[in-house]
Amino acid sequence: MSKEAGKQKRSTPKLAVVIMAAGKGTRLKTRRPKVLHEVGGKPLLSHVIATAGKLADAENIYAIVGHHAERVREAVAGTGVRFIEQKEQRGTGHAIQCAREAISGYEHILVLSGDVPLIQADTLQHLMTVHSAEGAAMTILTAVPDDPTGYGRIIRRSPDFSEVDAIIEEKALTPAQRSIREINSGIYAFKVGPLLKYLDKLKNVNAHGEFYLTDMAALLHGAGEKVAAQKAAEAADVLGANTIAELVLLDARIRAATANRLMAAGVTIFRPETCVIDAEVQVDPDTIIEPFVQLLGATRIGTDCRIRSYSVIENCALGKNVLVLPGCVLGESTVADGARIGPFAHLRPGSEIGQDAHVGNFVETKKAKLGKGAKANHLSYLGDAEVGAGTNIGAGVITCNYDGEKKHLTRIGQGSFVGSDSTLVAPIEIGDGAYIGAGSCITRNVPSGALAVGRSRQVTKEGWAAARRARKEEQK
Ligand code: UD1
Ligand code: CA
Repeated sequence: MSKEAGKQKRSTPKLAVVIMAAGKGTRLKTRRPKVLHEVGGKPLLSHVIATAGKLADAENIYAIVGHHAERVREAVAGTGVRFIEQKEQRGTGHAIQCAREAISGYEHILVLSGDVPLIQADTLQHLMTVHSAEGAAMTILTAVPDDPTGYGRIIRRSPDFSEVDAIIEEKALTPAQRSIREINSGIYAFKVGPLLKYLDKLKNVNAHGEFYLTDMAALLHGAGEKVAAQKAAEAADVLGANTIAELVLLDARIRAATANRLMAAGVTIFRPETCVIDAEVQVDPDTIIEPFVQLLGATRIGTDCRIRSYSVIENCALGKNVLVLPGCVLGESTVADGARIGPFAHLRPGSEIGQDAHVGNFVETKKAKLGKGAKANHLSYLGDAEVGAGTNIGAGVITCNYDGEKKHLTRIGQGSFVGSDSTLVAPIEIGDGAYIGAGSCITRNVPSGALAVGRSRQVTKEGWAAARRARKEEQK
């Protein structure tokens, strides 16, 4: 064998992934295009693209878009996926016909459905291995779910015959075929040569007047080409999302898998079925998550934390030993080791809560930096603020950061004490170790070590009440 020929033999066949994502999703009864419905916190199509991206042999990933194509493109822009337009949605076969030009340069394509989001990369890898080993023109990923209702069924000459004669859609099944439990997952490997040779022979004589890609099985088989099938080990991984009920079931499966992953790594999640945890969330061992907690986005939580019920934490980084009391909302913020948040606290974006700091009942922060051990325990608004280490913010303190046009900064030094119900009119600076008398409206800077009182003096009139009562008696 020549060197060149040897090289040829070893080089992997050119493979493209084609994701069908143009359909409307009529059964969902929503305006939102089907593949943009979310499970596990991200669109169906994003799951499929992410999985396709894990296939080392795939040179390109194409998405066939049509219904609300612009919205779909926008949602997955930046993934590197290429788009093929199917202007009119005339069926899955027609979708692949629209991809003719794009796929003609490849030896094989792997067709995925944009509404089958739980499919795993190793299942696809295995499908491709079987497809190659069989030398098949078409290899169908099949499954045997408990309930095959709604899916196309796999028709074989006899149940134990490895090759497939046809795929029959649910509506066209004969009574005898209804008992077949092996379903078509909507995922297939094709040899591009035979696919393109017979693709235009698809007919739309069926219940929906559509060109079904599934009919390629019978077409290829009839032409003497090999149509193989590979059963997915986990039927649940190939379930589709055609109705809202199916969609939320898939969402629950993804959430359960994430919770199980965290629990296997030493995180306690009480009543995990009530928690909503996104797939990218990281939690260190020995942390306890109570019922009805949501951990979203890229949230990271350290060890020995406790997240109490009804808290929603999105894109936050929490250190270790953090206690989040019930009913807190935390977004785009950081919380250092040993801090205590809540109950009913709201950390808005840009909040940086220092080590051992406390943010308590009904306190709202936004772009607020609290130093080590600083405390704001009750009813405050701290926006565009810096609070030094050990400073105590009394109940009801408000930073007046907005003058109607611009936001201004409030800087408070270390070890200071801001009395209850004070308003700090920004821009303003309060030094270290300063005191602000309760109920003050502070409009000028307060130097370190000073006491500032910004309120009217108290007037006390002794005996005034008795005199008033006497006056009233006289008037009667
Ligand atoms: C399809 C299969 C069925 C299989 C099931 C598995 C056909 C005819 N039937 O049925 O055998 O059991 O998937 O989930 O293929 N799409 C387009 N353009 C179109 C129509 C659909 O891109 O013109 C896309 C959809 O957006 C979707 C995918 O193709 O992502 C599948 O279409 P769908 O209508 O959901 O097919 P099913 O009825 O589920
Ligand atoms: Ca479907």
